[in-house]
Amino acid sequence: MSEIKLYNDDCIVAMKKVADKSIDLIVTDPPYNLGNFMKNRDTNLSKMRDNFFGSAGWDDMEFDDWEKSMDNFFKSSARVMKKGGTMIVFMAIIKVETIIRLAEKHGFYYKTTGIWHKTNPMPRNMNLHFVNSTEAWVYFTYKTRTGTFNNGGAMFHDFVETSVTPNGERKYGKHPTQKPESLIQHFVEILSNPDDWVLDPFMGSGTTGVVAKRTERNFIGVELDKTYFDMAKSRIEEKRNETKCN
Ligand SMILES: C[S@@+](CC[C@H](N)C(=O)[O-])C[C@H]1O[C@@H](n2cnc3c(N)ncnc32)[C@H](O)[C@@H]1O
Repeated sequence: MSEIKLYNDDCIVAMKKVADKSIDLIVTDPPYNLGNFMKNRDTNLSKMRDNFFGSAGWDDMEFDDWEKSMDNFFKSSARVMKKGGTMIVFMAIIKVETIIRLAEKHGFYYKTTGIWHKTNPMPRNMNLHFVNSTEAWVYFTYKTRTGTFNNGGAMFHDFVETSVTPNGERKYGKHPTQKPESLIQHFVEILSNPDDWVLDPFMGSGTTGVVAKRTERNFIGVELDKTYFDMAKSRIEEKRNETKCN
C-alpha cells in the first residue's frame, strides 16, 4: 500500500521534514518566473490560456530572488535524494541554463533537456507570430551518471507530445499551469519503480501525486497556496488508500 504525505507550506520549510537520502525521484514544475517578462512585453495577461506559463500569481519575482529560491530548492533536494536518484524539472526554455547551473552546483548530474509539445495550443496571435506550444523538461541524476530507466527495450525520444490538460482532470478546480497526467506518468514510469518515493515540492493541483498513487509509488507533495493544496488533496484522495495531511 502506498504512503502519501501532503504539506500546505513553503517547500523549503516542508522539505526539512523529509529524511536525508530518502527520495528516488523528484518530478516538479516550479515557478518559471515569467510574470515580469510577460508584463514588460505588454502581454494581455487576462487572455492567457490554461497551460500557458505566463503570470499566474506566483510568477513575478525579480530574477535574483527567483534564482535564490531555485538555489534553495536544489540544495534541499540534494539532501533528500538517494544516490542514483533522478529528477525532472519542467522549465521555460529561456531559463534552462540557470536551472542546470544551480543543479550542478548541488551535485546533480545533468543528463539532457527535452521538449514537451502541446498538440492543441491556443492559437493566440497566430497571424502575428509563432504560436507557443512548447515547454522544456530538464533531466538529472544525483551523484551518479545513470539512474532507473525502465525503457523495456523501447527507444524514448527527448520530445514528448500530449494534448493540453483535459477537462476531465480538472473536476476539483482549475490550476493555471496544470500538467496532463499522461505527461507526468511517462516520466514516473520510466524513472522510478513501484514502492519508490516520489517528491513534488511545487505540486500545484497535485498531478504528480495522482500519478504516483496510480502507479503504486509513495508520494510527498508540497504546495504553498491553500486553494491549490485543497485541489491537490481532493484529486489525490480520490486515488489514495491512506493519506497523511499536514
Ligand atoms: C507551475 S505550478 C505547478 C503545477 C503542477 N505541475 C500541476 O500539474 O498542477 C507551480 C506551483 O508552485 C507553487 N509554489 C510557488 N512557490 C512555492 C513554494 N515556495 N513552495 C511550495 N509551492 C510553491 C505555486 O502556488 C504553484 O501552484
